[in-house]
This record gives sequence, C-alpha cells and structure tokens, in this order.
Amino acid sequence: MSKSKPIIVVKNLSKVYKTDLLETIALNNVSFQIDQGEFVAIMGPSGSGKSTLMHILGALDKPTSGQYILDSKDVSHLSEDELADIRNRKIGFVFQAFNLLPRTSTLKNVMLPMAYAGIPKEEREATAKKFLNMVGLGDRLHHTSNQISGGQQQRVAIARSLVLNPALILADEPTGNIATSQADEIMAIFEKLNDDGHTIVMITHEPDIAEHAKRIIFIRDGKIVKDSPNHHRRSASIKKEVLAHD
Ligand SMILES: Nc1ncnc2c1ncn2[C@@H]1O[C@H](COP(=O)(O)OP(=O)(O)O)[C@@H](O)[C@H]1O
Ligand SMILES: [Mg+2]
Repeated sequence: MSKSKPIIVVKNLSKVYKTDLLETIALNNVSFQIDQGEFVAIMGPSGSGKSTLMHILGALDKPTSGQYILDSKDVSHLSEDELADIRNRKIGFVFQAFNLLPRTSTLKNVMLPMAYAGIPKEEREATAKKFLNMVGLGDRLHHTSNQISGGQQQRVAIARSLVLNPALILADEPTGNIATSQADEIMAIFEKLNDDGHTIVMITHEPDIAEHAKRIIFIRDGKIVKDSPNHHRRSASIKKEVLAHD
C-alpha cells in the first residue's frame, strides 16, 4: 500500500437544495483530496455546509454536480442500492448520537455489522471483543447501552465502525453529546487509530476538538476558505490510560 493513495477525491462538488420558493447552494464548487493515513477535521460555522458534505462523503446523499471518488471508485452517480453497499463496505461511521441499539449489549452492538456481512458467529464475536478491548471496554462486553456513560457509548460506536476494516472513518461531531471530561478519551482513540494507519475525517465546530487533527479544512457558505496542516496539534492527555486495557 502506497502511503499517498487517495481515499477521497472531490472535484467541483456542488449541492443545491431546491424548494418551491428557494434555492440554497449548500456546497459551491468544492474540490479537495484526502490521502490514506490522513487525520482531517472539517470545520465551519452553523449553516456552512458541513452536514451536507458529510452526507455526500458518507455516500448518504448525492451531489447535484461534480465528482466524488471514494477509494478509487466514482460514487457520484450510483443507485441507492449501490451507495448502500459502498457505505457498508468502505466507511466506518461515528455519529454524534452514537446510534447504538438500546437494551442491547456492547458486544452485540459491535457484532451487528458483521452479521449483515455474513461473517460466522465465532469470528464476529472474536473480532468484536478485539475492538472493544482496543477502546478500553473489554470489561463492559455485557453491559447494555443504557448502562454505560456517553463517552463509553461513543467508544462502542468506534469499535463498531472498525469491524469491517473500512477505508475511511467518518465522524460527525463525535464529541458533541459527550461530557468534556470524556471527549479526551474519544480523541485519544482517534489518535491511536490514526497512528495505526487509519484514515479519519471528522466534522466538528469545536476548535479544541479539531486541533487533534493533522489537517483542518474550513468551510463557509459552502466554500472551502482554508485548508492547511494543523501546526497547533493537541495530543489527548490520557492516551496511555485509556488504551492500557489491551
Ligand atoms: N434538506 C435541505 N433542504 C433545504 N436546505 C437545506 C437542507 N439541508 C441543509 N440546507 C441548507 O443548506 C445549508 C447548509 O446546511 P448544512 O449542511 O446543514 O450546514 P451545517 O451542517 O454546517 O450547519 C444551510 O443554508 C441549510 O439551511
Ligand atoms: Mg450540521
């Protein structure tokens, strides 16, 4: 694997929302590339187009015009079924609201994407345990979502995002619903995953969170206004403790 392999190539991407009365240009001719192994934060004020961009990058929506190439495949004009397939195979999603199944154990939550992929039960269980250990939750396998904290739920969601070996981890405001004291644990995990070679794209409006990334893309009114290496990189202070459960 070459280090500079592009995972995301976006060319002249636009998204226009049309209602009866109004046309909103949510993304206006955006172009950028993200290579394998990068850790990128996408920042911008409310209404700047972050969620629109996240939905397109996540193959949850299609652009009005322009091109999106994900892991060497042009996904700009695929059908809904083809998009769903790409989504499941190539992208590990981490959402602001965790999106775990309630009253279901952490182990089952993490095993679930592998069930849809037809992986045998023993392998599903072993893989889920491995990733739950990695996020420091090896001793919470049989707790249900409502029995653990928000930060722990997000760690379960991160473990779940990894089980099918995605080309890209796409996180939308991953610390938005978490106590500040636990946000550092989440960022420690992202830093560790990136150290291990995972490509991470994280949408956030919080500067403190964005500063954990190696590169920050700023959008405003649907346009990229700045795209540069992060020279003020923060490192999560509790990295070692969180990951010591391995
Ligand atoms: N489904 C939609 N229909 C119409 N306009 C939308 C829709 N979704 C977003 N918009 C508009 O597009 C612009 C960008 O929105 P969004 O991508 O949600 O920004 P952000 O996530 O940065 O707050 C805003 O002006 C918003 O009102
Ligand atoms: Mg948004």
